[in-house]
Amino acid sequence: RPLLDPPPPLPALHTSVGFSIFAFLAALYLVPALGPSFVKANLKGRDLLKVYSDPIPESQGLICAAIYILLLILFIPFPFSNSIANLPTKGTHLEGLLGAASLHHELSVYLSSLLSLLMATLLGFLDDVFDIRWRHKLPIPLIAAIPLLMVYHAEGGNTHVVVPIPLRPLFGVLLNLGPLYYLYMALLSTFTTNSINILAGINGSEVSQALIIGISVILNDLLYLPWPIDFRIPLHLLGSQAEVDVGGPWRAGMAYGSSQLVSRHLFSLYFMLPLVGVCLGFMYHNWYPARAFPGDTLCYVTGMAFSVVGIQGHFSKTLLLFFIPQIFNFVLSCPQIFGLVPCPRHRVPRFDPDTNLLHPSTAQFSQPPSKLTTLILRVFASLRLTKLKFHPSNGAIVEATNLTILNFLLVNLGPMNEKELVQTLMAVQVSEDGDVVGFWINYEIRSQVVY
Ligand code: UD1
Ligand code: MG
Repeated sequence: RPLLDPPPPLPALHTSVGFSIFAFLAALYLVPALGPSFVKANLKGRDLLKVYSDPIPESQGLICAAIYILLLILFIPFPFSNSIANLPTKGTHLEGLLGAASLHHELSVYLSSLLSLLMATLLGFLDDVFDIRWRHKLPIPLIAAIPLLMVYHAEGGNTHVVVPIPLRPLFGVLLNLGPLYYLYMALLSTFTTNSINILAGINGSEVSQALIIGISVILNDLLYLPWPIDFRIPLHLLGSQAEVDVGGPWRAGMAYGSSQLVSRHLFSLYFMLPLVGVCLGFMYHNWYPARAFPGDTLCYVTGMAFSVVGIQGHFSKTLLLFFIPQIFNFVLSCPQIFGLVPCPRHRVPRFDPDTNLLHPSTAQFSQPPSKLTTLILRVFASLRLTKLKFHPSNGAIVEATNLTILNFLLVNLGPMNEKELVQTLMAVQVSEDGDVVGFWINYEIRSQVVY
């Protein structure tokens, strides 16, 4: 438990909102201003789904990461100067020491998070420049997560999970996963960074995912602040049946140490608000037809920011619920990522220049697939996840649509243009995340289990 009461949230929160507006304006201005320098440094790409082939500045997520991380560093004095001012000066020597230890702990949470974000930026940029192989780039986010995990451990972090009701006779209500929980958190950073990167390739797709997940995390955080009033927000506008009780989780959590809950969710807000600002500014230039590409840098830094707040804020399981479209896309992609189905360099939909429409792109089999691959693809096809073509004489699979959520949407909803496809993707993410905010919060209040 923190020994100090959380600092009064509003002054630092106001600053954070101010910083995120600045982040938005900085991205809005700097992305086009620095575009020519990126092209000159050969950081450019061709838009695969257009008729023209003008070079588009690539890896501009680097600008976003620079604005974001610099602002997070400039922000350090705001929440912490409050804690410093609150250090007990009159109490006993021991009280003074405990207060300082608590402040050091909060600072180490913040600084280890910055370290992980910097590692992610470096990895993303190296990937943009050198096109790192999968097997080489997978373990790096694992290493980048070590500082986060050590800090989590140092505060005696929780490693229990709530057991689903049918399994409770076997395991009890809470199960301690111990070291396995640390493995799970390390894998989380690999997942959040890569899952945004493989749901990519149409204008606005990468940054819109980051934007919607960021806003969802912010909404979730706001519920944990000690709002003085009790009011409910219906989520009908987001196509959801759920209702959100503002401040409900905070009231439910009071018995479990509300000051801890508040400071964790404040921490998350400090990291999410400028991220949303920077993403919104970048999205203006990345929107169809894109004048700037995010590159892997943006995917990695935003993904790592989500892991950071999920782990440090102790809501990594809720966080994963905001990634359901990414989990779907990852599971669907597994046969291609793990080599059962051929994986072309680009799995983006196929562009028809005559109609300006996107169609599902395909992977071709040069030789008949194995029994396992055939079985998986047939199951996928029966679930309408892919469309197959068979050899006319021996019946072997010769072609499958690429296993991504974008192709899945095109297989099921028919051809559409790039802007419609990204809007559909965003609608899926918004409605799913909106549902999660509502249902998960209600569930948490009912079960009164708040970490
Ligand atoms: C991932 C995907 C790949 C997809 C690519 C698109 C996996 C395993 N890999 O690879 O299938 O094709 O992202 O980003 O799923 N581009 C556009 N329009 C956009 C964004 C990107 O045409 O709106 C193209 C540009 O040519 C750009 C290139 O994609 O240069 C960037 O690809 P990169 O991020 O390097 O691909 P990966 O992340 O390796
Ligand atoms: Mg990429």
